[in-house]
Amino acid sequence: MKLTFQAFSSRVPNTHLLALPLCEGEKPHAPQGVALSKVGTTDVKGEWKETRVADASAGPARRVLFYGLGKKAQLDVEKLRRFAAASVQRAEALGAESVALLAPQSLCDALGAERVGVALAEGARLGAYRFDEGKSKPKERKLASCTILSAVKGVGTGVEKGLVLAEANSFARDLQNRPANLLTPRDLAAAARSLAKAGRIAVQILDEVDMKKMGMGLLLGVAQGSRQPPRLVHLSYKPKGKSKGVVALVGKGLTFDSGGISIKPSAKMDEMRYDMSGAAAVLGAFHALRKLDVPWEVHGVCACSENMPGGAATKPGDIHTAMNGTTVEVLNTDAEGRLVLADALCYVNSKIKPDTVIDLATLTGAVVVALGHELSGMFASTDRLRDELLAAGEETGERLWPLPLLDVHKDAMKGQYADLKNISGGDLGAGSSAGAAFLAPFVGEREWAHLDIAGTAWGGTPRDWVGGPLGSGVGARMLVRWLETR
Ligand code: BES
Ligand code: MN
Ligand code: ZN
Repeated sequence: MKLTFQAFSSRVPNTHLLALPLCEGEKPHAPQGVALSKVGTTDVKGEWKETRVADASAGPARRVLFYGLGKKAQLDVEKLRRFAAASVQRAEALGAESVALLAPQSLCDALGAERVGVALAEGARLGAYRFDEGKSKPKERKLASCTILSAVKGVGTGVEKGLVLAEANSFARDLQNRPANLLTPRDLAAAARSLAKAGRIAVQILDEVDMKKMGMGLLLGVAQGSRQPPRLVHLSYKPKGKSKGVVALVGKGLTFDSGGISIKPSAKMDEMRYDMSGAAAVLGAFHALRKLDVPWEVHGVCACSENMPGGAATKPGDIHTAMNGTTVEVLNTDAEGRLVLADALCYVNSKIKPDTVIDLATLTGAVVVALGHELSGMFASTDRLRDELLAAGEETGERLWPLPLLDVHKDAMKGQYADLKNISGGDLGAGSSAGAAFLAPFVGEREWAHLDIAGTAWGGTPRDWVGGPLGSGVGARMLVRWLETR
């Protein structure tokens, strides 16, 4: 589906479906030249998610879709994303080849023209997202074009940016959705390389030989039970102008997590294809960075591996040594994400030395219990970073919720036979905090946020543009928004 912006004065271009949003109390009225019968518009109230399709008897649009946005005072960009996504899906269901979405002046006055453009483009593009690589005969798609119409110029700028963000999200989703036999650590590395091809972005890939030289015993320890060799991906982006500082984004890239010797139950184990969602978010962010100009030097580091119970696998109790010399007893081989991240964080500290580190990981089942599928857990070392990320999450519909990291959590990760252990002992509970506590000493004193996206990476309640069983691409848009506004 092609998505474009078109400046709108009075004439609607020819289209199969024209989607018109309205708030409660507004009159449903079609633009000049679009002839609707009286019945077509009676009792359209503008209530949230209300839809009405009416046939036009004459004019450039064959059909009109009225879509209710609810109370004007409660309007936000999330509702616009949903309007756009639902309209595109309705157009598809109606067999339309083209759809046009109108962004009226009143919406732009309420939310700002650029934000309206971003939200509509994101909603339309992501509402049309499909993953059919696995089908031998993918379902044909009739809907070929979507036009966003507005008399307000700023909407066009927004549409361009929204497209960049939606494509970054789709890139992340595609990586997530590929099954583990079709997306291995080497494939993730290849995806990172493809991002660097077009310039602007540099890439460096470490293989096992490099990892051994650097002493990444934790990452290698996770990978050693698999036939698939691990990779560490390092992407970097430099702004054209003066840089405001250095940021490192770190992603957990487990292309499959069977649990290893501490093997997982078989039900839903296929979902562990998504255990690379942190890496997908980081690569997605770089997908957008290629096309934007954010004023930060940004590094992306992804620790890519499988976690399998092969004959050479790490056994519970084994001790491995991190790149910084810290020794770790692996008491549960299923707590592998923190191990690969620890070496990635050591790498960041010794090679990049950023001002700020943000890691994203599908780290704990516990965060799903605590926060469900609509909120990612956030552990932030400064209030400033916490508030910035909260704001970026609200704007992008990728919401976060702060969680605590206390000394008692850190103490619980001290080892019996080694410096640290990879699971807490006793009755600590707070599994997500324990995961964060394991990572903390590998970050040191830098400004840092750890985002546990185990609940949000897939499986959310459907919201038209996101949600459901497929990967959500969570993180990429939020990170870019944060980099743009910081
Ligand atoms: N990748 C999982 C976490 C996960 C579980 C994400 C379910 C999404 C849904 C992670 O590697 C893991 O297995 N964590 C363990 C940690 C435990 C052994 C301390 C968990 O959460 O059970
Ligand atoms: Mn695991
Ligand atoms: Zn995992």
